[in-house]
Parts: sequence; C-alpha cells; structure tokens
Amino acid sequence: MRYLTFALAKGRLAKKSMELFEQMGIHVEEMHDPKTRKLIFTDEEHHLKFFLAKASDVPTYVEYGAADIGVVGKDTILEEGRNIYEVVDLGFGKCRMCVCGPESARELLNHHEMIRVASKYPNIAKDYFYNKKHQTVEIIKLNGSVELAPIVNLSEVIVDIVETGSTLRENGLTVLEEVCPLSARVVVNQVSMKMENERITSIIHALSDLCKDN
Ligand code: PRP
Repeated sequence: MRYLTFALAKGRLAKKSMELFEQMGIHVEEMHDPKTRKLIFTDEEHHLKFFLAKASDVPTYVEYGAADIGVVGKDTILEEGRNIYEVVDLGFGKCRMCVCGPESARELLNHHEMIRVASKYPNIAKDYFYNKKHQTVEIIKLNGSVELAPIVNLSEVIVDIVETGSTLRENGLTVLEEVCPLSARVVVNQVSMKMENERITSIIHALSDLCKDN
C-alpha cells in the first residue's frame, strides 16, 4: 500500500487539524514537539505521512501531487487559484473576508471612486472589485499587519480577514463590505482522487463526521 501524504497549513488551523487526525486514531505526537526540526511525520500503521507547510504553499503541494490531501483556509484556496478539488468544509476557523476601513471610506466605495486597496490577498481583492463590483481600484500587495495601511494613508481601504473584529476596533476601523465567508477546507489532488478514491473518500467521510457539529 502506498503512503498517502497530507499537507497541513501552519498557524491558526494546524492545531485543530492535528486534533482531528488524533481523533481518527492517527498518532502524530512528534508534530506537537515545539523543539523538533523534523519536517515530515509518518504513521506507519495507517501508511500516512504528514507535513506542515506555509498556508499559501499547501495548494501548490496538492496541485503537484507532493501531497495527496491538504487542510487549508478558503482564503488561501481562493487566493492561490490552483487546480485542486475542494471536497469538505470542516467548519472550523470560521471568519470573513471583508473590505474594511474608516467609516469615512464608505462614501468612496458607494460612489465607485478610484481608491487604493491594500491586501495580503491581491487576487481576491481584484476579483471582488473588478468582477463583482465592476469598480476600478489600485491594488497594493502587503504581507501582514494590513490594518496599518488606511491608518498611515497608504490606502483608503483594505481587504482582509476579520475574525473577532478586535484588530479593526482597536485601530478605529470597521467592516464596510463582506466579500465572502471563510473556514478550513479539505483539498485533494485531482489524480490522487481517482487513483486512491476509496481510501481518500473514507478519510474525507471520517473528517466531515468529526466536524459535522462545527
Ligand atoms: C489576521 C487578519 C487580521 C486579524 C483578524 O491577521 O489579517 O489582521 O487576523 O482577527 P480579529 O478580527 O480576530 O482581530 P494575522 O493575525 O494572521 O496577522 P497578519 O495580518 O500580520 O498576517
């Protein structure tokens, strides 16, 4: 039997994803060790391998078949636009992709003004403004702490993830428009889905059963 390989997104979703596999009787304790420099972990009993990767790389590993299955946020799936199957909404890591800014920017949005939009998600921002709203904007790509942009006048608004809303509140910003809801998803390589259909389907079912109350 060949090994099935899983790519899990590092960061907010990693802990919850590993808990799920443990609930399925898959033991990857080594992965919890914060001191380990090891990158890949094997469950010999079930012929499975796991690795943690930067979230934005998970769809890449899955598209190329370096991982058969991935667990990653919908935000990353949309931004990366890879050829992969999205098969299950695990229902955790729920948050929203939103257009945010100071209340004063609402008018600029309503009047379809030529505004600057800062985001870690330039493709999502582009798709939203160009294809959904038919509004021409300037997209400015940032890599983090995006809430700074409207405060220091780099942009009028941002497109970013809102979870509790506290980052916005503490910085005098607010949600102006909602782009889409987000949560953790399971993605599968298109060839693996055909070649290992039975094994992958049963793993998908087990994962969605465990997550059905989310
Ligand atoms: C995310 C997001 C927001 C914040 C939203 O950032 O980009 O800044 O979390 O969460 P909240 O609504 O609960 O305040 P992250 O912590 O991943 O850091 P980064 O922006 O520096 O990448």
